[in-house]
Amino acid sequence: MTPPPRRGPVVHDWAVVPLPGTAFDPVPHRLLHEEPVARVRLPHGEGHAWLVTRYEDVRLVSADPRMSRALTVGRPLPSMTPHTLAPAGGVGRADPPDHTRLRRLIAPTFGRRRMNALRGHTERTAAALALRTLDAGPPADLAESFVGPLSATVVAELLGVPAADLDRVQAWRAGLLSHDTTAAAGESVKKEIAGYFADLARHRAGQPADDLVSELAAARAAGGISTPELVSMAVMLTLNGLDAVRNIVSTMVYVLLVHPDQTAKLRTDPGGLPRAVDELLRYIPQRNGVGMPRIATADIEVGGVTVREGETVHVFYPAANRDPAVYTDPDRLDLSRDEAPHLAFGHGAHYCAGAQLARMEAEVMLATLLDRFPRLALAVPPDEIAWRAGTVNRGPETLPVTW
Ligand code: HEM
Repeated sequence: MTPPPRRGPVVHDWAVVPLPGTAFDPVPHRLLHEEPVARVRLPHGEGHAWLVTRYEDVRLVSADPRMSRALTVGRPLPSMTPHTLAPAGGVGRADPPDHTRLRRLIAPTFGRRRMNALRGHTERTAAALALRTLDAGPPADLAESFVGPLSATVVAELLGVPAADLDRVQAWRAGLLSHDTTAAAGESVKKEIAGYFADLARHRAGQPADDLVSELAAARAAGGISTPELVSMAVMLTLNGLDAVRNIVSTMVYVLLVHPDQTAKLRTDPGGLPRAVDELLRYIPQRNGVGMPRIATADIEVGGVTVREGETVHVFYPAANRDPAVYTDPDRLDLSRDEAPHLAFGHGAHYCAGAQLARMEAEVMLATLLDRFPRLALAVPPDEIAWRAGTVNRGPETLPVTW
């Protein structure tokens, strides 16, 4: 029997397949080149969404105030995970004026001045962790002995999460950021985390310290933030601070070690490190699939396609970072590249709140490693590194190195 003729536009299936190393997901890569504004079906949720992959189109969508995040709350939209990643009330799913109010509350903590103040502490911690790793090895798992503990210490310092509680928070993180966590299990983890941060904020309201949870507790007392908003904020900052940084910096170290010529040049020119970090951020596809979508509140032209009011739109920042219209030979790592700013931290109102922090941590960690481990190398062939599967953020399970 011949199948009935296809009606309507083509909808591409985008499954989540585990990808090794920095391999680029073939689906968005093909769409970037062939159909930069395309309809896709994702593993979870209902219906299809637009997927936008070109640099200029991604910037347009993410800077357009007519693209709403608040409208995504409570809807079974096309998604990579069975449960919604970001809680309602969170900064990632708010529109102005709520979004503006929430971002203002945390802006001083993540601003340049505070980051400069935190740099010294981060450098001392990195030096101590490097020394401990040197004493215990070789070999060593750098993700476990260096990158993980450093990002955890910084989160503990900045937010005020007691170091003794970090293991518990890490276990929740693993549950929440897994593609395999069911909707029910996701909800129960979120409840536990919410209870934990609500208690912590209550405690800090009584005994304030010099940390973000204390500041948020004070803002709540003054009516500037509600309890669900406070909890969502603390959860989002903790999870990003732990998971995003650990994964991306471990991957940065891996990329440097499999590009020894470029890394050797960097060793002789430490002033080139900030630029190298930005190129690594551009080059590394740090996520499996897309995060939170937006909903169009009007008919909007995107790359020659009309997105209708009420339709769901996902942007894929890693694809924009590989756009040949913007970057020369985009799939090649070039640590001295000096082209358009990358979109790894997003763009527009929802631009990553922790971008300065993440950059600072990456710079400190890479500078420390280049300085203290002049002969750092992978302890196994690159294709034997195990990469996380079924997780939102990509990164190595372990990073075995020698020196
Ligand atoms: C290298 C590591 C990181 C990367 C690549 C990254 C990337 C991103 C991206 C792509 C977004 C979403 C933009 C959007 O919604 O369109 C985002 C949002 C956000 N990130 Fe990061 N991030 C990193 C680290 C961090 C850290 C360390 C923190 C804080 C501790 C943080 C806090 C946030 C927050 C609060 C938002 C939501 C902002 C909003 O919706 O207004 N991120 N990040």
